[in-house]
Amino acid sequence: MAEEGGQRLFFALWPDDLCRERLARQARRLHGFYGGRITESTSLHLTLVFLGDVSAEQVNVMRGVGDHVAMRGFTLHMAGAGCWSHNQIAWVAPAITPEPLARLVGDLREAVVAAGIQVESRPFSPHVTLLRKAQCRPVDSKAVPFEWRVNDFVLLRSTLHSEGARYEIVERWSTAPAPSSPEHE
Ligand code: 2AM
Repeated sequence: MAEEGGQRLFFALWPDDLCRERLARQARRLHGFYGGRITESTSLHLTLVFLGDVSAEQVNVMRGVGDHVAMRGFTLHMAGAGCWSHNQIAWVAPAITPEPLARLVGDLREAVVAAGIQVESRPFSPHVTLLRKAQCRPVDSKAVPFEWRVNDFVLLRSTLHSEGARYEIVERWSTAPAPSSPEHE
């Protein structure tokens, strides 16, 4: 059973089917610029906090972390695209980091550290990895912008397979939709 051994875990945003299809379309477009290996559409995600390998006991602690972090819904304006030469990753990213996203990541990091797991001290740089082993070069690879409405986050388990990493949801936490607009009040 999953709980028996250590596992590679991370908190992430997990797109719905429509968003996943939009991301997959961007991946195919960027592949035309940079080549490389396209992320399987079923694996597309935006990492919030990477935990690495944790013990079975810590998996349950991380479930508790998710239970105690309050999240407000937000919309990501996915409008940035590019390629990082240092790790050969091509990505799309939100134009700005909305405050509820920064807060969610800050709260998760704090709770994870309090539980005794080290996390990266680098500033959070939200992105969705679309290509690996990309041949980055200076091209105008602008994203075709779209809105990603986010009302939940997940704890994902990563397992390695010959074709690459596969992810499965350990647990999902949803929030109530953002406060209703005046016409609904
Ligand atoms: P990447 O997409 O930028 O490669 C699962 O491995 C997710 O966690 C990936 O999205 C990956 O980011 C991120 N990740 C992998 N190793 C990491 C590490 N050591 N520190 C932070 N994030 C990591």
